[in-house]
Amino acid sequence: MIGSDITLASQYLSQGETVAIPTETVYGLAANAFDPEASAKVYQVKNRPSFDPLIVHTHHIDEVGKFTVSWPQPLHQLAQTFWPGPLTVLLEKSDVIPDLVTSGMQRVAVRIPDHPLAWQLLQKLSFPLVAPSANPFGYVSPTTATHVSDQLGDKIPYILDGGPCGVGIESTIVGMESDQVTIYRLGGLAKEVIEEVVGSVTVKTSSSNPQAPGMLTSHYAPKKKVVLGTIDTIVDTYDGTQGVILFKPNDALKGYHISVLSPRGSDREAATNIFSALRLMDRSDVDTILAEILPEQGLGRAINDRLRRASS
Ligand code: TXA
Ligand code: MG
Repeated sequence: MIGSDITLASQYLSQGETVAIPTETVYGLAANAFDPEASAKVYQVKNRPSFDPLIVHTHHIDEVGKFTVSWPQPLHQLAQTFWPGPLTVLLEKSDVIPDLVTSGMQRVAVRIPDHPLAWQLLQKLSFPLVAPSANPFGYVSPTTATHVSDQLGDKIPYILDGGPCGVGIESTIVGMESDQVTIYRLGGLAKEVIEEVVGSVTVKTSSSNPQAPGMLTSHYAPKKKVVLGTIDTIVDTYDGTQGVILFKPNDALKGYHISVLSPRGSDREAATNIFSALRLMDRSDVDTILAEILPEQGLGRAINDRLRRASS
């Protein structure tokens, strides 16, 4: 069922059920973060391997101390600056967080989402919520309630509809490694913006990185073949049969299966449209999707990261 009833959503969650919730980044599949059985349901519904840990969502920075044991200063500063928002921090967990939530790791991923419905819901509950993206494991993340219902509608009791996600790609994940702020997943908060607060940071988003086991190379993947290129190679390759995802409009490429992420060439606007575009192409009759690489700056980095994983 899809609706906007926070009371109903909170009842299901309090009974140990899973509920899809809106956030500003993507829709999440939520459950009680203190209840290992509820979290186990999340893994089951998503068909997610148990080595891929879950992000814990809360409504206030003061809540974090109830389930973590320490907070490195740069991460605290980032949270104070950017929460609520598309930033997830890795902090040493306390015993109240079940090992299943962190896949046995010492650190737990935490964030405060910036969405009024999610926030009201979290405030009503006496526990934080785990919420991975509400898609089957490995597929494109959902940015509308309909995306969720298309794939998980018959597996979960309730989808809380908060409209289309304003950011459109997942949160940026940061943690400390040898006293250095490290980005483990590029996302909705740009690296440059983080660096304005804490100085230069390391980016470690490779699939072989054991610190962020969810970063598999093949991820965010539509069922169709995705081929990345610059605008020039796409114009050369296009033969009228492929689907095309463009960053901004191009006069040489117009037509039915051509999707433009940002008419005004903005990385933020492109982020809000990338996952819908991939889903649309997947439902169309094209075999191959040609996708334009964005300039490697701002949210362009995170979008390129998703496109690279989609193409491998
Ligand atoms: O924007 C988001 O972060 C969304 C919304 C719903 O909040 N959630 C999300 O969750 O994208 P998910 O499960 O699709 O991605 C979470 C990723 C994992 O794959 C893993 O790479 C990383 O976060 N992660 C979670 N807990 C971790 C931990 N304890 N240590 C290292 N990485 C962790
Ligand atoms: Mg995900």
